[in-house]
Amino acid sequence: MSRAAPDPQSNMGNPEPRLDGRLKVTGEARYGSDFVVGNPAYAFLVTSSIAKGRIESMDLRDARTVPGVLEIFNHENTGELKDIKYAKGGGGPTSSIQGFGPQIQYGGQIVAMVVADTFEAAREAAHKVRVSYQPDQPSATFDSLGISEQPFNDGLPQAGDAEQAYGTADVQLETQYETPTQHHNSIELFTTTCAWRDNQLTIYEPSQFVYGLKANAAKKIGVNIADVHAVSPFVGGAFGSKAQFSPRTGLVALAARRLNRPVKLVATRDQGFTIQTYRAETRHRIRIGAERGGKITSFIHEGWEVTSRPDPYSVSGVEDSARLYGFGAVKTGVTLVHADRNTPGFMRSPPVVPYIYALESAIDELAVKLEMDPIELRRINDASIDATGKQWSSRSLLKCYDQAAERFGWANRNAQPGSMRDGDWLIGWGCASAVYPTHVGAAAARVRLMANGTADVQIAAHDLGTGAYTVIGQMAAESLGIPLASVTVELGDSELPPAPVAGGSNTTASACSAVMKACQAIQAKLTQSSDDQVTVGSASGDRSKLNLEDRFKKLGVGAIEEYAEYLPPGAKPDAMKNLYAGTPFLGGGSKGEKLMYAMGAEFVEVRVHALTREIRVPRIVGAFAAGRLMNTRTARSQYMGAMIWGISSALHEATEIDPRTARYVNDNLADYLIPVNADIQDVDVILVPEEDKFVNPVGVKGIGELGNVGTAAAVANAVYHATGIRVRKLPIRLEKLLAT
Ligand code: MOS
Repeated sequence: MSRAAPDPQSNMGNPEPRLDGRLKVTGEARYGSDFVVGNPAYAFLVTSSIAKGRIESMDLRDARTVPGVLEIFNHENTGELKDIKYAKGGGGPTSSIQGFGPQIQYGGQIVAMVVADTFEAAREAAHKVRVSYQPDQPSATFDSLGISEQPFNDGLPQAGDAEQAYGTADVQLETQYETPTQHHNSIELFTTTCAWRDNQLTIYEPSQFVYGLKANAAKKIGVNIADVHAVSPFVGGAFGSKAQFSPRTGLVALAARRLNRPVKLVATRDQGFTIQTYRAETRHRIRIGAERGGKITSFIHEGWEVTSRPDPYSVSGVEDSARLYGFGAVKTGVTLVHADRNTPGFMRSPPVVPYIYALESAIDELAVKLEMDPIELRRINDASIDATGKQWSSRSLLKCYDQAAERFGWANRNAQPGSMRDGDWLIGWGCASAVYPTHVGAAAARVRLMANGTADVQIAAHDLGTGAYTVIGQMAAESLGIPLASVTVELGDSELPPAPVAGGSNTTASACSAVMKACQAIQAKLTQSSDDQVTVGSASGDRSKLNLEDRFKKLGVGAIEEYAEYLPPGAKPDAMKNLYAGTPFLGGGSKGEKLMYAMGAEFVEVRVHALTREIRVPRIVGAFAAGRLMNTRTARSQYMGAMIWGISSALHEATEIDPRTARYVNDNLADYLIPVNADIQDVDVILVPEEDKFVNPVGVKGIGELGNVGTAAAVANAVYHATGIRVRKLPIRLEKLLAT
C-alpha cells in the first residue's frame, strides 16, 4: 500500500495520528454503557415474536418471581410517554410506531422491558414473560400479498422528453437490479443509560446527534428541554443507526424516573436488528438510450423501496444517479412499498449505495453493448452541467479514473469476458464511479486560547470512529498557529455548542467552519492588541510564543474565549435556533446553486474459481477527490473502511426475511455475513488533490460515505468480466454463478 507524504501544494493536511488513539487502545475511552452511574438497575427488552396482530395478554407472574426483579414495563403502565411525530432525517424519531402494544406492527417490536437489580435477573425474567398474541398475516416485502404502493416523486430530477429520446435512440438498454435488506451491526451495541437527579435527566447513549437525542427525549417524557443532558463522547460505529431517536430511550428514562434509580440497557445483537433502523431492500428499472458513438441521450431510472406501513421513508437516490453524467434527457421516479416492517433509516451513503450500484452496473452493460471501454464511455458522457442545467462546483471524476486506471494497470485488460485466467481462476477486472453529495450544516463552536499557548475547542460534534476529534483539533491548531498537541477537543455532549447530526458526511465541513470562525475571532482580538498585523503564533518558535504572551499581557487577560456560529448558504435565519432545539439544517448536494459532490473511481480484480465458483477480491484500487483533506491518515482509513464495506455489500451482506412471518432469519453475526481478514487483501487508496472553495470556507467535502459507493458495481462488473455472467441482484454469492 502506498503512503503518499502530504504535499503542501495539494490541499492536503498532515497525517496526524488520532488525538483519541491512546484512550481507545488503552480502554480509557468511555462509550455510552461504560459510564459509571451510582447503584444502577439493569434492563432487558422483550420483543414481539409476531410481525402483525395484537397482544391478547401478557402473563408476568413467573417473571416477577425471579429474585431481584424491580418492575416490568409494558403498554399498560407506560401511558405517560408521549407520542412524538416521525421525522425523517437527523434527530427525529426512528418511526411512527412507538407503542409497546397492544397493536403489533412489525417483528421484533419492543413489547416489554424488565428492570432488575442485576443484568442476569433482568434477562432471566424477560425470558419468563409470556405473551399471547392474536396474529394476523403480515406482508413482508416486495411481491408479498397485502403490500401497498405509493408514488413518491416530489421534486425528483426530470429533464426533456426522456421517453421519446429513449424510444428513438440508436442503442437501447433496459435492465433491472435489486439490493437486499442490510443491518448496521456496529461493534458497539445499542445502549441507553438514564440517571435522574433533582428532576434533571442525563442520558448516556451512543448518538450521532446529542442535541436531537436531548430534544426528543424531553418531548417523549414531557419535561423541559433544558432539563435533559445527552452525553456521547465516543461512538463505536453508527453509520446512520444512531442518528435518530428510538423508542427504547423514552422507556429507559421513564423506568429510571419511576424507580428513582439509574437504569442501564444494553440491547442484544439480535434485538439490534429490530429496535433500530436498517437499509431497506430496493429494486431498480433503468433504461438508457445512446448514440452508437456512446453519447447518452436518455436516462430513465425508476426505483422501488420498502418501508413501514405508516412512514414514507425513502432514500430516492435518483437525485444523484440522474446527475452523474451529461444525460441528454432524464426521467426519474420512486415508488414506496409499504409492508409490515419497522421504518427503515439511514445506513452509510443511503441514497447512493443502491442507486449508484444500479447506475454503474447499467453503464458497464451499455459499454459491453457498444463494445466500448467502460472508462471511455464515462469520458464521452462527462459534463460540466447535468441534464437539468445545474453546474458542478468542482468535478474530478475523470482525474480519479485516470489515476486509478494507471495504478491498477487497466491498459492490460482484455475486454473479452472469461479471457483472463490464472490456472483454475478466472480473472475479472471491473470499475465503477463513486459519488457522494457534499453536505454542510449550521454549527456553533466555542474556542478558548490561553496565554500559555494552549487551546480548548468545544463543539457538540460527534466522532463515530472517523477521526473528528483529530481534524477539528487540526483546524483549531492551524487557525491559531499553535501545535496540535496544545489543543484539547471536547465533543459529543449537549452542554457544548451544537453541531448538526453526524450524517451525510457533513461533520468535518460544518464543525471546522464554525471552529475556524471562532479562531478567527480570537485572532482579531489578539491583532487589535498589537500594532503590527502579523498573524499571531506559529507552529514553532519561541519568538512567536513570547509574542503571544505579550499580547495577552497587553490585553490584560489570561485567556480569550470566542463563540461563533456558522450558517451555510441556503440556511434560513432561524437555522441556529432550530439546531439548539434539536432540528439540524443540512444544505449542499444537489439542493444549492451548484452541484456539490465528492467523486471517485474504484477498480476491482476478482478471481472466480472455474470449478467451485468461489469468488475472491485480491485487490481494489480507489482514487477519490473530495476537496481539501484535513488529515490524509484518517481520510485514507475512511476510504479503506468504506471500500471494505463495499466488498461486503457486493459479496456478503444480506438480512434474510421470512416471507411467511415477516421476521428476520439471520439476526446474528454468525449468519449475517461480513468479510473477515481473509476476504480482504490489497486495498489501495489514491488521494486526488482538488480545490473547491465554493462548498464551504474550509473547502472540505465529506469523505465518510464516498468510498463504499462504487464498490458493489465495480465487483459486479468484474464478476461479469471474469465469467460472462451478469448478476443483477446483490449480494453476489457463488450459487448465482453456477447457472449456465
Ligand atoms: Mo450517515 S448513513 O448519513 O449517518
